[in-house]
Amino acid sequence: MNDLKTFKFNYGGTILYFGPESTERIRDHLEGKKKALIVTGKRSAKESGALSDIEKILDELHIERKIYDGVRFNPTVEIVEEIIGEMRSLGADFLIAIGGGSVIDSAKLASVAYVEDRKPEEYLKGYARASKHLFLVAVNLTHGTGTEIDRYAVATITRTREKLGTAVAYPDVSVDNPKYMISLSKNQTLFTSLDALYHALESSVSPASNVLVRDLSRTAIEKIISYLKKSVENPKDLEARYMLLYASMLAGVAIDMAGTSIIHGLEHGLSGVVPNLEHGAGLAIIGPELFKLLYRTKPQEAWEAMRALDPTLRPNKEDAERAGESILKFQRSVGFSLTLSDYGFNDRKLREAIDVAWPLFQSRLMPELPEIGKEEIFSILKALL
Ligand SMILES: [Fe+2]
Repeated sequence: MNDLKTFKFNYGGTILYFGPESTERIRDHLEGKKKALIVTGKRSAKESGALSDIEKILDELHIERKIYDGVRFNPTVEIVEEIIGEMRSLGADFLIAIGGGSVIDSAKLASVAYVEDRKPEEYLKGYARASKHLFLVAVNLTHGTGTEIDRYAVATITRTREKLGTAVAYPDVSVDNPKYMISLSKNQTLFTSLDALYHALESSVSPASNVLVRDLSRTAIEKIISYLKKSVENPKDLEARYMLLYASMLAGVAIDMAGTSIIHGLEHGLSGVVPNLEHGAGLAIIGPELFKLLYRTKPQEAWEAMRALDPTLRPNKEDAERAGESILKFQRSVGFSLTLSDYGFNDRKLREAIDVAWPLFQSRLMPELPEIGKEEIFSILKALL
């Protein structure tokens, strides 16, 4: 059994408590607070036990609260606006987001738009830059997004179906408690960890990558390889959950420093057009093929992270094909074998998704990547139907 101690980690603007005793540690940060809006989805906050743990703390501190439980995955700006409406009607002096990426991201956007009296869309479109936010506590319920430790929030503009990510705010205090991960379903376990895997892989090759980003990424990948299968086979394995959560947190720091790449750029188009596509599943379907392009372009950087996954790889572009195949093999070994057709994609929807994703895809291009057009991307994705 590994050391599963609770520790405190300061990064960006966040004080993160990580480990089995982490929830209790937020108490000191809530002294003097009066009214909390708790933001959650429909089920996980209750099923994980996190909501009752938090309510107990709020009771002890005599903090009034209201619960908004309307966040769903792939959240929209309308959801963020509903949260802002609830904050106003309560007169909230802080927010507690209890959930995965969708919940925490929606709360981040609301915390900024509420204080600055702007529309969430303005931040997503880049018309406004966030500079202040309402105090935000994030109780993370998945081992995937890393949003509990990064600045980013992703939401969809319903009108245009653009799923956009932007830097808004670090949570002030975050909780990564592995016991809350035990109630994740098999698919959630897989999809969220595969999201973390692509954060690690993509941040390693992004233009802003550096040795720290790649070391964090390699460690994250090592943990995912060692513990994802264990966690799928035995969901209650707390050590496996702790390590997967640790991996996703490290990969969250890596993307906060270096950003993601074309795989995330394209995936946001796919799940913008087909909202029932889970983000991690979308990445895992298109990732192995697209990572070949990235490995070919940045073989040294890609190898530094990838060698955890396949020690036989060499840092040269001739191994790009094998690198993609190794990712695919790993994904199959943990039970992931979905395709784009499983989510109802056809030629028409693929073209729509490429159009929607195109600005985002292009924003993630790096100078070393060979020229790549919509038709080429279409044929890559069509082969994945
Ligand atoms: Fe992601």
